[in-house]
Amino acid sequence: MPCCGDYGVLVDERAVVRELTRTASPPLVPEVRLRLAEEPFATWTATRADDPPFWAFAWAGGQVLARYVLDHPDVVAGRRVADIASGSGLVAIAAALAGAAHVTAFDVDPLARTAATENAALNDVVVEVVQADVTRTPGLHEALQTADVVLAGDVCYDPDMAPPMLAALRACAARGAKVLVGDPHRPYLPRGLASIAEYDVPETGNLEERDTTRAAVFVLRN
Ligand SMILES: C[S@@+](CC[C@H](N)C(=O)[O-])C[C@H]1O[C@@H](n2cnc3c(N)ncnc32)[C@H](O)[C@@H]1O
Repeated sequence: MPCCGDYGVLVDERAVVRELTRTASPPLVPEVRLRLAEEPFATWTATRADDPPFWAFAWAGGQVLARYVLDHPDVVAGRRVADIASGSGLVAIAAALAGAAHVTAFDVDPLARTAATENAALNDVVVEVVQADVTRTPGLHEALQTADVVLAGDVCYDPDMAPPMLAALRACAARGAKVLVGDPHRPYLPRGLASIAEYDVPETGNLEERDTTRAAVFVLRN
């Protein structure tokens, strides 16, 4: 199925993901295997897609959230979990490994949907993967409306995206879901959120251009 305009040889989404990545583990989450790229800009050029290949990297916010969930399985065990802006699917996979009853991963990017599907299979877990814009209301997917736990890794990197994303997350919190956000203290993260865990994330994928990135798991309330 063509997916990337004039992509040329790589016209199949799964072929794109496999061709541009290799199997590796994020440094903070060695128990999870993902299809990961080594460098963002060359990878983006190769996709010829409009959107950057977020799905080819394990972002610091996602890594800390996955680490937290794996170290505190009681947060998700037996619960319905949604991972929004799931990228590679790292956080969703961690939730499934930690014993969630059902996990749905949402991302707006079709290549992220493919990557998360591939990565769930790599880790032998079941994750429902949905391509959707989670900021679109009304019409939020049922799995997002009914999730007991909503997880979001690294969703405050863009000044236009952060406010609607946070509004969608706060709507989940308002109806009673537990909402956890993993974030490396990006400028568009609201100040004053309660941090429940902090980690130093070793650099991977030349994303942050420093050896380690301090990132935290925050509780978001409505
Ligand atoms: C920085 S990446 C984080 C990926 C993953 N959570 C992680 O931490 O590794 C942000 C992701 O948000 C997705 N995204 C951006 N806007 C979105 C929206 N409105 N609805 C769903 N996903 C969105 C992007 O496609 C991208 O995969």
